Amino acid sequence: MSHKLALVGFGTVGQGLVEILAEKGAEIERETGSAFQVVAITDTVKGALYDPQGLDLVGVLESVKEGGSLVGYPDRPGLIRGWDSFQTISDTGADTIVEATFTNVEDGQPGLDHVRRALSLGKNVVTTNKGPIALAYQELKELAQSYGARLLFEGTVMSGTPVLRMASSALAGNRILGVRGILNGTSNYILTRMEDGLPFDAALAEAQKLGYAEANPTSDVDGFDAQYKLLILANTVLGETLSRDDIARTGIRDITPDDLARARADGARYKLIASLEWTASGLKGRVAREPVPLTDPLSGISGAVNALTFRCDLSGDVTMVGAGAGRVETGYALLIDCINLARRQI
Ligand code: HSE
Repeated sequence: MSHKLALVGFGTVGQGLVEILAEKGAEIERETGSAFQVVAITDTVKGALYDPQGLDLVGVLESVKEGGSLVGYPDRPGLIRGWDSFQTISDTGADTIVEATFTNVEDGQPGLDHVRRALSLGKNVVTTNKGPIALAYQELKELAQSYGARLLFEGTVMSGTPVLRMASSALAGNRILGVRGILNGTSNYILTRMEDGLPFDAALAEAQKLGYAEANPTSDVDGFDAQYKLLILANTVLGETLSRDDIARTGIRDITPDDLARARADGARYKLIASLEWTASGLKGRVAREPVPLTDPLSGISGAVNALTFRCDLSGDVTMVGAGAGRVETGYALLIDCINLARRQI
């Protein structure tokens, strides 16, 4: 069965998905019975394409690689250029909108309005954009229910490591008592590279080059990204709607090589730890750098890898470890959601 996708936002993550579909689309169709056809891409910087017959994904990738935009994509009969995000969502006949614009930590826009528009037209949404899910999950969930659409967002936490799906399906029946882990790949990568002797700025530049960092890397190094992921876990897994004020936050910006060396001498490694715990005043969260003892498995998580432990009332602690960022990994998160949409599973 064919599923038509329209991509809104064509940065690292959207390109990651298109690369996967270009390379493995036929194999995915054989395995899952679903053919994913990209009919439209729109991006405020790179331009926009719409072809009701489906875009040639190799041509799309070549155009971006060679010219940094979609302008070099060859003309063909029926091809339309230049539609903005809202026209693309409304008028392309796509079954599913892949929302992969940047995460805005202030108000979730423009991603939030993209998701609202798509759901209210009865279109499914898959997204890696943390803003809408962190800030407006309840509203969006109800909107999806009202219009018979589905909203999937596996890549918002731990990129292609399916931690949200594990919580909602494999751990079903447990009460989740809390979570603790490393949820930002960029800051963990920076801490790891600083331990190798690299200065902070050089380590951040590497993380940006590797496609780990947010459009505005302040989000990563000052803890906002991990804070947003905790909001998403609270909203979607722990069933509590929290605001940013419920999650205390610090980052890693002022950690020095001396701090790292001292921690090492004390048998620890600095990590940016994100946690949610029930307290007397309800569910509260915390994002903070901590020297983690080498005896704690989290101290061994290096590079852009993430880890998250769910404290469960029945199964005890369950930990998932895997990629927390990356072009193909996060593109894969979108693919998982598309496949599960096609299978009508969570
Ligand atoms: N910038 C994020 C990180 C990407 O480094 O973890 C994945 O959300």
